[in-house]
Amino acid sequence: MDHPLRFARLGFCRLRCPDLAASLTFYRDIVGLTVARESSEGAWLRCSDKPYDLILEHGDAAGLSAVGFEMETEAELLNGFALLTRLNCAPVWASAKQNTERQVARSLRFADPVTGLEIDFYVGQKTAADPYVPPHTRIARLGHVVLNVTDLAAAHDFWVNQLGFAVSDQVEGVAEWLRAWPNPLHHSLALLQHSANTLHHINYMVSDIDDVGGAMNRMKGADVPIVFGPGRHLPSTSIFLYYLDPDGNSTEFSFGMELFEEHDARDARELEHKAEVMDIWGSKPDPRFGKGSPIVLHHG
Ligand SMILES: [Fe+2]
Repeated sequence: MDHPLRFARLGFCRLRCPDLAASLTFYRDIVGLTVARESSEGAWLRCSDKPYDLILEHGDAAGLSAVGFEMETEAELLNGFALLTRLNCAPVWASAKQNTERQVARSLRFADPVTGLEIDFYVGQKTAADPYVPPHTRIARLGHVVLNVTDLAAAHDFWVNQLGFAVSDQVEGVAEWLRAWPNPLHHSLALLQHSANTLHHINYMVSDIDDVGGAMNRMKGADVPIVFGPGRHLPSTSIFLYYLDPDGNSTEFSFGMELFEEHDARDARELEHKAEVMDIWGSKPDPRFGKGSPIVLHHG
């Protein structure tokens, strides 16, 4: 497998929220992100030493409006720009002012050719002035984002064949779990075949199994719908808990994940399409699980 680009990590997700105040309260008080910046237009929330991990922006309808990946070096970002240009994705460099505003050295954005989602690639992100101090659940990092896509084969071609993401596991024609190569996490992005292009879920990895159990009781106490779990995924070995944000977006806490070496990693496994793949403990998802907001089409 050829990898034309080297990615550092999934950097951020941006959600559009019709009730910004409700979403902000939820992500701060229930999920445990801290608010780094706030206005009537939106907010930056953190679970790391970076200035933002989740961006909320006000909008008339709920949606997933952007996903950002940090690249290893500026040379990789330049390679990315050239590659995206060859692929007719029309990448656009952000202006110096925009980069300062986003606290990165350099960044580009383009529309994912399959879903229309805005994708940002960037380098040189600043570190926040103060450390992230978790208020309750010890979130370790933004873990991954999972998209429902109408054309899984086309999405595979773009992310894997063209951009060089690595398949860790798959259920043929149904789901793929992808590494942002050479990031060691079993998946930073996953894709599911679906009837519409929507957000399936956003994941936050936690530091201890107690964080999953404690969160479950906090959700129950706050009447937050738990839509799957607690359970254990077969593909990644993660222990998980999924719950709904105010817009019905599934949000996941997970503990533990298989890690991959850069070289000589095991081959992708072809998994069976059955419920036990999603939870080896046997819990069943609520019908609302993974039925998140539409992907917002990016316009230049
Ligand atoms: Fe997940």
